[in-house]
Amino acid sequence: MNLNFRTYCIIGDPIDHSLSPAIYNAAFSSLGLNCSYIAFRVQEGQLKNSLDSLRAINIGGFNVTMPHKVRVLEYVDQYDKTVELVGAANTINNEDGKFCAYNTDVSGFIKPLRQRGIDFSGFEVTILGAGGAARAVAVALAGERGIANINIFNRNTDRSKELANMLKKLGLKSSIVSSDNIQNISLKSNLIINTTPLGMKDEQSLIKSSSIRKDAIVYDIVYKPINTNLLENARMAGAKVVYGYEMLLEQALASFKIWFQRDPPIEPMKKVLFGKFGEPA
Ligand SMILES: NC(=O)c1ccc[n+]([C@@H]2O[C@H](COP(=O)([O-])OP(=O)(O)OC[C@H]3O[C@@H](n4cnc5c(N)ncnc54)[C@H](OP(=O)(O)O)[C@@H]3O)[C@@H](O)[C@H]2O)c1
Repeated sequence: MNLNFRTYCIIGDPIDHSLSPAIYNAAFSSLGLNCSYIAFRVQEGQLKNSLDSLRAINIGGFNVTMPHKVRVLEYVDQYDKTVELVGAANTINNEDGKFCAYNTDVSGFIKPLRQRGIDFSGFEVTILGAGGAARAVAVALAGERGIANINIFNRNTDRSKELANMLKKLGLKSSIVSSDNIQNISLKSNLIINTTPLGMKDEQSLIKSSSIRKDAIVYDIVYKPINTNLLENARMAGAKVVYGYEMLLEQALASFKIWFQRDPPIEPMKKVLFGKFGEPA
């Protein structure tokens, strides 16, 4: 066992639901690292004080979740190109006293699609939602070739427009979709991605089963519950599904790599996510 004790954490609000402490502590114990990971509830107005405290205790690194992913950039020392593109960070590494920000949601999102060997040529993509996660999805999709168009559907149309501008800067064509037209557009989509929290509380999905093509891919980034109403609708339509837990796991693996500069132990981290029942078929 390495005797240099280091602490890692996640900050956000709410934080009770976070699976991150269990995932990283499983990794630390499987590798015999003398480290521990805890969750801190940090309310909106407490961000600066909290970061000062994390500096004072020389934290090894930390994850950032809602609502701090954007504002945390005001208090870090540097950030990489991906963070600049997304405008948000989810991972901070303490590099010789400097807080350096990264965004592993981008690689975490795209990896499950790449693992399936998807060819995006001519793809019509529909993104539900236009918040922070949708921005990470946009940056990830900009790294893929051949996407024909991205349809944006969001409650707040100002945010839809912001996302459309961002996609334009990233070199992707997009269209803003109204609620009257979303089912039609969905039916033309090769890839449908939910980035809204709808589904976390068993809400009905924005997309009906009859609006999903049999040859579509449906990706819900909500990870709890594992099977959301959108994914059930997709399966009913005969479409392929990509689970939110896959992104959760991939972004955690990438954060681990940033902190420890070594490959993470995937199996123990996965086991924590699924318990003794194992990965869904
Ligand atoms: N799997 C993973 O690893 C992973 C990673 C990151 C995030 N996530 C999940 O992604 C979700 C969104 O996170 P975020 O950081 O993007 O949050 P955010 O910045 O607050 O954005 C939320 C988006 O969802 C929309 N929305 C919220 N409630 C809605 C409702 N009742 N009906 C329709 N639209 C609604 C918002 O629309 P308005 O603009 O109209 O308010 C906004 O576009 C969360 O559930 C989070 O847990 C998962």
